[in-house]
Amino acid sequence: MIARASGGPAVWYRDAVTEKGLADVVAAETAVSDIDGKLGKLWYAGYDIHDLAQYSTFEETCFLIHHRRLPTRDELDDLAEVLVAERELDRWLSDLMPTLSEVTSPMSMLRTGVSASSAYDPDGWDQSAEANRRKAIRLIARFPTMIATYHRYRSGEEPIEPNPKLPHAANFLYMLTGEEPDEEAARAFDICLILHADHTMNASTFAARVVASTLADIHSAVTAAIAALKGPLHGGANEAVMKMLEEIGELDRVEAHIADRLGRKEKIMGFGHRVYKTEDPRATHLRRLSRELGQRAGDTRWYDLSERIEKVVMERKGLYPNVDFYAASVYRYLGIPTDLMTCVFAASRVSGWTAHVREQLADNRLIRPESDYIGPRNQEYVPIEERS
Ligand code: COA
Repeated sequence: MIARASGGPAVWYRDAVTEKGLADVVAAETAVSDIDGKLGKLWYAGYDIHDLAQYSTFEETCFLIHHRRLPTRDELDDLAEVLVAERELDRWLSDLMPTLSEVTSPMSMLRTGVSASSAYDPDGWDQSAEANRRKAIRLIARFPTMIATYHRYRSGEEPIEPNPKLPHAANFLYMLTGEEPDEEAARAFDICLILHADHTMNASTFAARVVASTLADIHSAVTAAIAALKGPLHGGANEAVMKMLEEIGELDRVEAHIADRLGRKEKIMGFGHRVYKTEDPRATHLRRLSRELGQRAGDTRWYDLSERIEKVVMERKGLYPNVDFYAASVYRYLGIPTDLMTCVFAASRVSGWTAHVREQLADNRLIRPESDYIGPRNQEYVPIEERS
């Protein structure tokens, strides 16, 4: 932590504390979302996530986190209309998709796709607040199309055109699976998108804000955010959870599997959180959705396995599940392939990233922290011939 010496010359001194991983360090002021880790509470612009999961839609949540207030009916209709109108990929990105589907992993496709889509954005390099608002909506609208197009190509199938009659969540599932989801599946997925939309200063949002603070463009900031989300300690955890569920396979293998992993000092994916010291409120909804979708499908295997793992991890480590744990089985029940799960997370979180980028730009200062130098000092330069 750095502090300025009071009075006297402008000398800055270092107070010896450096929080590894910047834990507890406040990196920005935000009105987008807030967490109380002790109480297990999450709010978007002051609205409790439980209320939003119950009453809101992804479209309305997008409006909320971008405007920090709920929309009127007309405002919501307008946004929904623009999100529908902006779903199609530009020609260049469409042409790139067959290649991306052959040579890149899903998250690399998304990272490359967002970066590439900056080239033909209708607002070009205009970085005005209005242009950034339009770019943000365009990005939110196009993530599902990118993911679904990629998936169709790699499955040897033609991409499915977006259906303008379907809302965001239902259209996403439709383009991905080729089938219009029923009301229950569409609503479950809509809730998933609401739950993942924002989460204060998580690693990917921080990455987005750092890039935005340099006054680089919004596509660059979102590209950086995708790169940060890719890792298994962040968004990649949901895929890792699904792989673990598949590996365990049977209820009677849970105990031994978890014991083995912990014995090898491995982390159990989908558990623990930097901020929550109690149940992650998003996990509460995802657990319920996993149970309901499993019961509806007449196949509660993934839910049952998850529930048992949760119990064992709590008994052995006292850790609660985070957002990624039950998201894995929910996505499986919705027909989302395991390796697309992190992309689905991104398709929701792009709403939060873009809200944070716009908030950063509205009152910008370059984010440039200090570091604690721990290497040797006053080294003498030795010519290369004289080095041993
Ligand atoms: N499985 C087993 N042990 C875990 C754990 C997990 N998932 N999460 C935390 N722990 C343990 C650590 O081993 C450590 O124990 P120790 O003090 O005995 O060494 C302690 O809890 C603190 O963990 P740490 O990794 O330092 O916490 P963090 O705040 O840096 O990390 C996470 C938070 C989310 C990165 C971490 O919990 C994790 O890696 N979880 C699994 C990945 C995941 O689900 N990520 C999605 C997050 S939404």
